[in-house]
Amino acid sequence: MAETPSSPIKSSIAAALREAASPSPSAPSSGSAEKTAGGANNAPPPPSDFVTLKLDGREVQAKKGTNLLEVCLQHGIDVSYFCYHPGLSSPAVCRQCLVEVVGQPKLVPACYTPVADKMDVRTGTPRVLDVRRQMLEFTLINHPVDCPICDKAGECSLQKHYQSWDHESSRSSTPKVHKPKVQDIGPHIMLDAERCILCSRCVRVCDEVAGVKQLTMAWRGDREQLTVAPGHKLDNPYSLNTVDVCPVGALTSKDFRFTMRAWELFTTDSVCPGCATGCNIEIHHAQGEIWRLVPRENLQVNKYWMCDEGRFAYKDVRHKRLASSRLGMGHGQPAQITSIDKAVAFAAERMDRLASQGATLGLVFSAHVTNEALFALSLLATRLVSRGAEVRTYVTGTAPRPERADNILRHADTNPNTAGARLFAGPHAGDAQTLLADLERKRLKCVWMVGTELPLSESAQMEAAPLFDGLELFVCQAVQDTPILRRAHVQLPAAAWAEVDGTFTNARHMVQRIRKSVNPQGDARSHLELISLFAKKAKWAIDEKWQVSARQAFLHMVGQVTAQPPGTEPKPELVAGFGKAEWGKNSLPVQRRFAHSQG
Ligand code: SF4
Ligand code: SF4
Ligand code: FES
Repeated sequence: MAETPSSPIKSSIAAALREAASPSPSAPSSGSAEKTAGGANNAPPPPSDFVTLKLDGREVQAKKGTNLLEVCLQHGIDVSYFCYHPGLSSPAVCRQCLVEVVGQPKLVPACYTPVADKMDVRTGTPRVLDVRRQMLEFTLINHPVDCPICDKAGECSLQKHYQSWDHESSRSSTPKVHKPKVQDIGPHIMLDAERCILCSRCVRVCDEVAGVKQLTMAWRGDREQLTVAPGHKLDNPYSLNTVDVCPVGALTSKDFRFTMRAWELFTTDSVCPGCATGCNIEIHHAQGEIWRLVPRENLQVNKYWMCDEGRFAYKDVRHKRLASSRLGMGHGQPAQITSIDKAVAFAAERMDRLASQGATLGLVFSAHVTNEALFALSLLATRLVSRGAEVRTYVTGTAPRPERADNILRHADTNPNTAGARLFAGPHAGDAQTLLADLERKRLKCVWMVGTELPLSESAQMEAAPLFDGLELFVCQAVQDTPILRRAHVQLPAAAWAEVDGTFTNARHMVQRIRKSVNPQGDARSHLELISLFAKKAKWAIDEKWQVSARQAFLHMVGQVTAQPPGTEPKPELVAGFGKAEWGKNSLPVQRRFAHSQG
């Protein structure tokens, strides 16, 4: 019988029969499904990865295996905790996260209890709140409460939980147990054992992240103390992660302590320039200065961690800076300070003349420069060729250090953007050795270095510097004053990585965003701005959108890079990261105020 629109019951029955007759796409294939004699499928539904539970009366779904604490936090339920960290194992030692599960006689630690189907969890009953206060009171019994002089104040979990959940005066009149203060336990870290709440997060960071057992607990009861073994130091390459995860001010960084209060800092998201891993970081800055770098969660790159060496990358932003543009005679003779406009106009006019005479020009793509600037340089390379020049490209950067590589985060390549530099310099680009060899054989008339990073020590640079004296025109865009820069006819001050917007491509070809956190030093401008100025002065590319901003250059670059047919040079894996690249928000720096401990 034909279905008609006027018989909805019949049509729904027909639809159900059709569905029963045809195999469901999610049903298991033959063999696993039980069939009745009549052919109907009575198999139970495939097991779901999710369970349904109640949180304070609200029904929620959670992935199997997730702990209760994570689920509470995901749903905006504030459960206090100290020892739990999402990147570490859960020993449930602090008992601060106790919650009630209906049907269970005792309160359970939320960080240690996996979710189960039909669980009914209460996080705010009088019983739970009372225990939460008691646990806080217990933790505070021997804590010195020296917040006014403690470096962690303003970002301390104990201070925050006390304000949120307790706020009562101490009921204890017995003297506090005193423990050692100001203990130098490693090259970067001081320990105040009195402030330690024995959560063991730092011990687990060493054991589980760095893979070395350098911290442990000694003694028992109220004498228990965190310590390093006698004669040993907390000196692993990831030691400063212990400071991030310490919920209180027991572990402090020698570099940061007594510099700034946490609430004076602003935070800008960026990427570490220390190596090709590209750990995600926050730049903490105030008053135009960077005060520290801390890791930012990215489960695909660095999880919650970064290495100690990367933390100090901010120091280079103020180190030996070239702050104004200079014009000179080359050969290392003193150069005269001039305006950027004049210096670029001079260089652009001479470079254009050399190009039109068919000279061979060398363009240096530094692996410390953003993709956007290198992309712009590659566009100008094609303009120079169309003017008649022969263009040779070179990828340079700081020297690899195989001894620093591990299977955790640290990479042997100490440049943040080698993949990007290789992509934009082209498949036939040389390296620093090729550049020096070409200079020695006097194959180049002009060199334009965008970034002066070379795999040479300062003394080796001094030795190599005279090789640049044979050039008719030597232009350098540099962040720092180096022996090579001093041989240049045109010396242009470039902004450092923390002073610009842009992207770096890491060793796994992930294109990651860096953001400007502080203003450039002196007259310095981003490499992209300097290259745009060249394009305008030489009239190589007028009013092209990539010259407007780093974001415009990024959009233009992603379109061009991803348009390359797969399988053609450059290598598809170098191009792949650009397909997923996003510019992201241009957010204003956020002031840190009672943010949780980092990590
Ligand atoms: S030093 Fe900090 S992280 Fe380590 S056990 Fe003590 S409170 Fe926890
Ligand atoms: S591993 Fe590399 S990218 Fe990560 S923090 Fe260290 S130096 Fe920076
Ligand atoms: S956070 Fe759960 S017991 Fe410490």
